[in-house]
Amino acid sequence: MNNIQSYIKQHKDRFLNELIELLKIPSISADSAYKNDVLKTSEAIKISLEKAGCDSVEICKTDGYPIVYGEKIIDKNLPTVLVYGHYDVQPPDPLDLWTSPPFEPVIKKTDLHRDGAIFARGACDDKGQMYMHVKALEFMTSTNQLPCNVKFMIEGEEEVGSSNLSVFVKNNQEKLKNDVILISDTGMIANNVPSITTGLRGLSYVEVEVTGPNRDLHSGLYGGAVANPINVLTKMIASLHDENNHITIPGFYDKVEELSKDERAEMAKAPFSLDAYKKALDIDAVYGEAEYTTNERNSIRPTLDVNGIWGGYIGEGAKTVIASKAYAKISMRLVPHQDWKEITQLFKDHFESIAPEGVKVKVKPHHGGQGYVTPINSVGYVAASKAYETTFGKTPIPQRSGGSIPIVSLFEQELKSKTILMGFGLDSDAIHSPNEHFGVWNYLKGIETIPYFYKYFTELSK
Ligand code: BES
Ligand code: MN
Ligand code: MN
Repeated sequence: MNNIQSYIKQHKDRFLNELIELLKIPSISADSAYKNDVLKTSEAIKISLEKAGCDSVEICKTDGYPIVYGEKIIDKNLPTVLVYGHYDVQPPDPLDLWTSPPFEPVIKKTDLHRDGAIFARGACDDKGQMYMHVKALEFMTSTNQLPCNVKFMIEGEEEVGSSNLSVFVKNNQEKLKNDVILISDTGMIANNVPSITTGLRGLSYVEVEVTGPNRDLHSGLYGGAVANPINVLTKMIASLHDENNHITIPGFYDKVEELSKDERAEMAKAPFSLDAYKKALDIDAVYGEAEYTTNERNSIRPTLDVNGIWGGYIGEGAKTVIASKAYAKISMRLVPHQDWKEITQLFKDHFESIAPEGVKVKVKPHHGGQGYVTPINSVGYVAASKAYETTFGKTPIPQRSGGSIPIVSLFEQELKSKTILMGFGLDSDAIHSPNEHFGVWNYLKGIETIPYFYKYFTELSK
């Protein structure tokens, strides 16, 4: 790739400013109050793809937010890379914990980012990482170095489960035909320890409701004589893990893929400092399933976590009340071979079965998806690995991530192609948290590395 470094140097300020403009639009897919902003973001992506050299770009309507689709086909006999990303973002709350407003992007220094990082909701997940691909395309088209065909599919509903994208993919197999899918929506170990994400966990997300008496009651008059839904719910939730932090739902582990000793030893070679990990989170000890390391607990093992719990009186002061209802939102992260629909059913059956007399329990499944593992001997992986070697000067480490991008397994099922996850974010970038940010260096390094993927993928596909 001729002149990639000088091209980036020359256009760096514009690359940053364009991303900053995109980050100013609050494209929060979960909150319908932001509908116009989400739609406005899709328009902005369309324009950016046109400017970057796509021949045709369309905004494809769905039952929810639209999918922006663009392509540049230079020769039908050459391979085709399909880039996927998302333009929607998580809600920014709690707002008071942000050191600068979430939709007023600013570049600030951090301990890990010597050239600074852009602070804004979506900076890393996923606007910043998605936009690296747009700028990489701009570089390749404007310097006549695009070596193969490219298709872009950028959705606006990733953070709410991608249900309309599933329909779109099933209905557009021919249009989306490709040789490899490329995504930057994950992370890497550290700026001096490049890694490629080889696995994503699956997900089952449910909401539970426990109902006791038909109305809120005086906790003195009735306390002790009727089931308190909050007491019951917390007890039920506590029983979902045993003393070794194994999940107690019958059948939950039946299909879990157990890694061999060798595979676990290989994983353990990735650089990791438990002290730094604890320090970064201000905790004095880690916590989790017995017999597994921290890196295993958050990647190759399934988990169950309460994401939110509410009920009763939470206003100022005290109110003596036994609530009629209590609720919780629970996520289960799954590993290869666990089927999310089956796990959801196992959860539902078990949770209903452990409800004591005196309460009614409802389990509402939300959304979910299968896990994914990509082989490290595919043409796509080898091309990605060579790309990192070229720009980082180091061979990247394959690493499974704990996060989920449920649509990836559907891509494999429907489009029959492998996904390569070239993430350039860091775990400390605070995605989904207050003060999300993305390193300026990481953003530019991504733009530099991506064109090499195209080059090597095309060469290796011959
Ligand atoms: N980009 C993340 C997933 C991710 C982040 C994977 C870092 C690996 C490393 C994605 O936007 C996300 O947040 N996914 C959700 C699931 C989705 C169904 C809402 C998640 O993992 O909670
Ligand atoms: Mn994402
Ligand atoms: Mn996300």
